[in-house]
Amino acid sequence: QILLGTFVHSKSRTELDYLHNAAVAVDTRGQIAAIARDCRSMSDAKDAVLRQTGWKASEADVVECEEGQFFFPGFIDTHVHASQYPNIGIFGKSSLLDWLERYTFPLECSLSDLAKAQRVYTACVRRTLAHGTTTATYYTTIDVPATNLLADLCLNLGQRAFVGRVCMDRKGFCPDYYEDESPEVAVHATRETISHIDKVDPGYELVSPILTPRFAPACTPESMNALSKIQKEKHLPVQTHISENKGEIELVKHMYPAAKTYADVYDKHELLTPKTVLAHAVYLTDDEATLISQRESKVSHCPCSNSSLTSGEARVRWMWDKGIEVGLGTDMSGGYSPSILEAARQATLMSRHLAMQIDDDDASRERCKLTVEEVLYLATRGGALCLGLGDKVGGFEVGKQLDAQLIALGAVGDDGLRAGEDGVDWADAGNVDVFGWETWDERIAKWLYNGDDRNTKKVWVRGRLVHSRR
Ligand code: GUN
Ligand code: ZN
Repeated sequence: QILLGTFVHSKSRTELDYLHNAAVAVDTRGQIAAIARDCRSMSDAKDAVLRQTGWKASEADVVECEEGQFFFPGFIDTHVHASQYPNIGIFGKSSLLDWLERYTFPLECSLSDLAKAQRVYTACVRRTLAHGTTTATYYTTIDVPATNLLADLCLNLGQRAFVGRVCMDRKGFCPDYYEDESPEVAVHATRETISHIDKVDPGYELVSPILTPRFAPACTPESMNALSKIQKEKHLPVQTHISENKGEIELVKHMYPAAKTYADVYDKHELLTPKTVLAHAVYLTDDEATLISQRESKVSHCPCSNSSLTSGEARVRWMWDKGIEVGLGTDMSGGYSPSILEAARQATLMSRHLAMQIDDDDASRERCKLTVEEVLYLATRGGALCLGLGDKVGGFEVGKQLDAQLIALGAVGDDGLRAGEDGVDWADAGNVDVFGWETWDERIAKWLYNGDDRNTKKVWVRGRLVHSRR
C-alpha cells in the first residue's frame, strides 16, 4: 500500500515536520518500508518509493490525499476507562471521591453483564477510533470475562490497546457490591486476563495486558506487592492514578501513615517502574517529581478530566523540566470527551490558566503556555514514549508501523462555497474552514482548536483501515 500526499508529524517536542509531495510505502505487515518526501510531484514521490522497495506499481494500492488534506499520526490515549464510556458528560457537581461512589462504581459494576459490556466496549472502541485514537490504554472493571471481551474487540476492530483489569481489594474504601474479595482473588483475576491475551495475541502485536492497581486508596499493600511481582516476572506495563485531588491525597496520608508521600506509597510497593503510567499528577511535590523522574515512570496528563471534576491544574512544563515523559489521556468519563484532539486543546487552555496565575514574571508566564506543536507532540510521540512504543508508532519513519489518520479540512473557494464536498452540507463537514492563504502551521492550529471527528476521514492501525467516513 502507498499513501501519497502531505504528511505532518512531530519532529521534536517543539517542531512539526511537513512532508509535502510525499509517499509512504507500507508493507503487508503494516510496517513503513520506504518514504519519499519533498518531491516535484506526488507521482514522482510514488516512483521514488517504488524504486526503493522494488515493488511493481500494479501491486500497490494507492491512497492519495486531496488538496487541503493531510496524513497525521494516530492519536495515543494514555489513560481511558472503557467501562465509563456511557457516562461521558455525566458528573454533575461532583469531585473525585463522591463521583466514584455516585456515578462510577455502580456503572462499572453493572458491566459484569456481558451483553451490556459488549455494547459499551464496542461503542467505546468504535467511537475512539472515529476520533483518530489508534492506541488506547484502557481500564476496564474488576470483571474478567468482560475485560477479556474488550481485548477481543480491540483485536477484531483493529485498535492497538493496553487492557487493564482493575484491581481494587481494599475493604472499607471499595463498596461491598464492587470489590475484589481478597488480594489473592485480585491477583488471580489479573493472571486470567494476562493468560487470555497471551492466547489471543501472543507477542502482544496489537493488544497487551497492563497491570492496573486502581489507586492506592482502593488497594492493599498485599495486592500492590503481588502486582509488582507479576511486573518483574513478565515485564508488563503498569497503570494507576496519583495525586489527582486534594481529598484523595489526604486519604492516602491517612491510610499510609508511614509513607513520606503519595508517590512513595507506590515506590515502597515497587510499582514505580519505567513502564508505569501515572494518571493526573496534579499536586506532585518537588520530591515526588524527582522520584518519578529517577524511576523513569511516565505521567498521563488528563486536562478534560481535571477540569470536569474540579481536580486542579497539572503542570506539564514543570514535569518536563523535571525530566518526566508526559502523554495525554481523555480519562473518560472523568473527562467529558472521547477525543484526544479535545484533550490536546484543553492542555493548551489549562497551561494558559496556569500562566494567568503568574503575576510578576513575564518570561515565566510565557514559558508556562504550551504551544500547538507541544500538545500535538503529547498526543502522538510523547504518548508513544510513555507506553514504550517509541520505536513502533508516533510518527512517520521507516521501520515504524502505519498508525495514521487522514485529516480533511473544509476548503472555501473563491465563490464562498466549500470545494470538493458535493452533497455535503456545511454542518456535516466540520468547523474548520480553510481559505487557502493560511500557512501550514496556521492550518494545523485551526484544526487543533476547531477540529473534531468530522475531519478524521480515515484511520489506519498497522496498515489496516479501521475507520472510514463518507
Ligand atoms: N481514581 C481512582 N479511580 C478513578 C477513576 O475511575 N477515574 C479518575 N479520574 N480517577 C480515579
Ligand atoms: Zn482515570
